[in-house]
Amino acid sequence: MHGAMPAAHEAPPPRSPKEATVEAWDARADRWDEWTPMVESWFAPATANMERALGLRAGDQVLELAAGTGGFTRALAAAVGPSGHVIATDSGPRMVARMAENLQELRQVTARVMDGERADQSPGSLDAIACRQGFMFFAAPETALARLAPTLRPGGRLVFSVFSPPDRNGVLSRPSRILSRWADPDHPPPPPDAAPGPFSLSDPVRLGNLLRSVGFESVAVEAVDCPLRPPSLTKLMEFYREILGATVQRLSASDQAAAWAEVETAVAPFLAPGSPGAPCEILVAAGRRPDDRGSASRARPGRERSRPA
Ligand SMILES: C[S@@+](CC[C@H](N)C(=O)[O-])C[C@H]1O[C@@H](n2cnc3c(N)ncnc32)[C@H](O)[C@@H]1O
Repeated sequence: MHGAMPAAHEAPPPRSPKEATVEAWDARADRWDEWTPMVESWFAPATANMERALGLRAGDQVLELAAGTGGFTRALAAAVGPSGHVIATDSGPRMVARMAENLQELRQVTARVMDGERADQSPGSLDAIACRQGFMFFAAPETALARLAPTLRPGGRLVFSVFSPPDRNGVLSRPSRILSRWADPDHPPPPPDAAPGPFSLSDPVRLGNLLRSVGFESVAVEAVDCPLRPPSLTKLMEFYREILGATVQRLSASDQAAAWAEVETAVAPFLAPGSPGAPCEILVAAGRRPDDRGSASRARPGRERSRPA
């Protein structure tokens, strides 16, 4: 496109890192949706763990944050049944449009654009809040949790999942390390918790403390093994190019080709015969809003279940 550069006073304000994250996710909504079958089988063990921790019942009112195109929403909708309600939200309008299309037959689901850090539900209106693989993209998770906690009824549960540290997640850290080195050979990548991103909430102790610090009780953080078994090396590389490609997009075409060739060599063993897959561990964090009367189980008799410490 030809044309003059905009005058300084017309320049758009710089995007915050958070805006950039939200926009980047939304831009890939259609592609993310197409990866649903692979992502669902990848996350399946964590999903099952989250479902157990949520302990949903027919008729429950649930808020889902960062729901993407609705991969996890289906399970939530099945658990609450037609008499329940799942408010499935995501910051991206395109994500939400795809979700609404995907789940149109589920009358108990309302798809809504909402920043997970700006939840606006009424106090005490929810039985549960769920978020699968989204919380680590929030700019201020503690503030978000403090805002969410009062929207739960006493005894209501919050359950979310995030990635464990990079050394337990070769699935992402192995290609990311290579691409970061190509992008900036002189500087090592910043520590995982320096900014919102896949590993920013990967410390299980910090995660538990975060939940306790905003008043949750019966806090549990469980590590769940979720190896990714992609259908082929070609598909895995396609997936990496889509989710990690931005790291090397400023490099010359030949450097990009060399970087991707190095990634391919490094991740090929994930698909070797007998390999358990690409290593991935997910943390499922759960907490319960205290019952003002002293015991969460009194709020909804029969809901109490044993939980890992
Ligand atoms: C890895 S995807 C997970 C999607 C879905 N939960 C799943 O498990 O398939 C991360 C999602 O977080 C969303 N997201 C990122 N920042 C967000 C924010 N501040 N508020 C709400 N959603 C956000 C993205 O739009 C994206 O859909």
